[in-house]
Amino acid sequence: MKILVTGGAGFIGGNFVLYMVNQYPEDTIVNLDALTYAGNLETLKSVEDKPNYKFVKGDIADHAFIDQLFKDEQFDAVVNFAAESHVDRSITDPGIFVKTNILGTQVLLDASKKYGVKRYHQVSTDEVYGDLPLDRLDLFFTEETPLHTSSPYSASKAGADLLVLAYHRTFQMPVTISRCSNNYGPYHFPEKLIPLMISRALNDQSLPVYGKGENVRDWLHVYDHCVAIDLILRRGRIGEVYNIGGHNERTNLEVVQTILRELNRPETLIQYVTDRKGHDLRYAIDPTKIETELNWKPKYNFDTGIKQTIQWYLDNKAWWQNILSGEYSHYFENQYTDLHKKSTVR
Ligand code: NAD
Ligand code: TYD
Repeated sequence: MKILVTGGAGFIGGNFVLYMVNQYPEDTIVNLDALTYAGNLETLKSVEDKPNYKFVKGDIADHAFIDQLFKDEQFDAVVNFAAESHVDRSITDPGIFVKTNILGTQVLLDASKKYGVKRYHQVSTDEVYGDLPLDRLDLFFTEETPLHTSSPYSASKAGADLLVLAYHRTFQMPVTISRCSNNYGPYHFPEKLIPLMISRALNDQSLPVYGKGENVRDWLHVYDHCVAIDLILRRGRIGEVYNIGGHNERTNLEVVQTILRELNRPETLIQYVTDRKGHDLRYAIDPTKIETELNWKPKYNFDTGIKQTIQWYLDNKAWWQNILSGEYSHYFENQYTDLHKKSTVR
């Protein structure tokens, strides 16, 4: 199979590319990424010379560029991770979320339709379901939960999901969608809760907790998300949505306290700050469908996963320190000095 992975220089897409390139040497993985602030090719250093891997720099919302790429490459499958993904950024600047997340998805769907892609997989999020109350621990998101979004980010992801399902219904396109809970793990950009708290705690800086820290997220290790997407790509039923999550709900405060304990830092570093606007209270996934249909089982629970993740941040300080210093953005120019004079593959 030749698989187009979009957003493969980001957190989850990067982990997925590493997993697929190593797991399936007979498949070819083409990684298309615009290298926004969130894209970092240093994540992919270990595979960049493998014969079954190729990087292409470009924008999923650029219709002419995408059409040419699909024509040239004749992909069998597309897995769309590319997105603007940070809720806080969507509150200050919603426009780019609509462009990349909705328009970009439509451009990819059109190209997939035109060039006969055999499977289009959309990587979505549990945030399309809105939130659950804090005092109803019996409630979970199922695939039938109505879409009910809160932030410009989740609204744009829901818009993309609806387009994907519309292309299935209208044009019989072979699509699948996965909606996963919050991820954590290696190569997570240090502006999201867990890597932000780890990197700041290691620097003995204050840890900004929104509101009272009582909001609940359902945390899944990125490795388990990657395995789930691979299973859906190969064995998932066309036209179906699959929720992904491992029943690891924690309040934000519990997450931060766990990180401080593991790093042997005092709780006095915690600083309560102004709450996020429209802050979703609780996310919690019911993963019964993917467990029963595809026999998916997560390898990590939160306690084992967070230990592994903290250890990774300790062992790979250069990776996140380069991001904090801005140094990572020069990687592309340094690494691809000869290539970036050429056309699309730069
Ligand atoms: P990320 O922000 O770390 O990575 C996004 C990647 O997409 C970056 O490499 C960026 O350069 C690239 N990109 C952005 N705009 C682009 C464009 N117009 N064209 C091409 N590439 C572009 O995000 P992530 O956390 O890895 O999330 C990946 C996907 O998974 C997103 O679709 C997100 O909605 C979804 N998701 C994320 C989580 C989570 O907890 N992080 C949970 C569930 C679902
Ligand atoms: P985040 O990692 O941005 O993911 P999402 O908003 O998509 O769930 O945030 C996770 C939770 O942590 C969310 O409830 C907001 C909270 N949070 C803080 O309390 N402080 C912070 O500095 C950040 C970035 C997030």
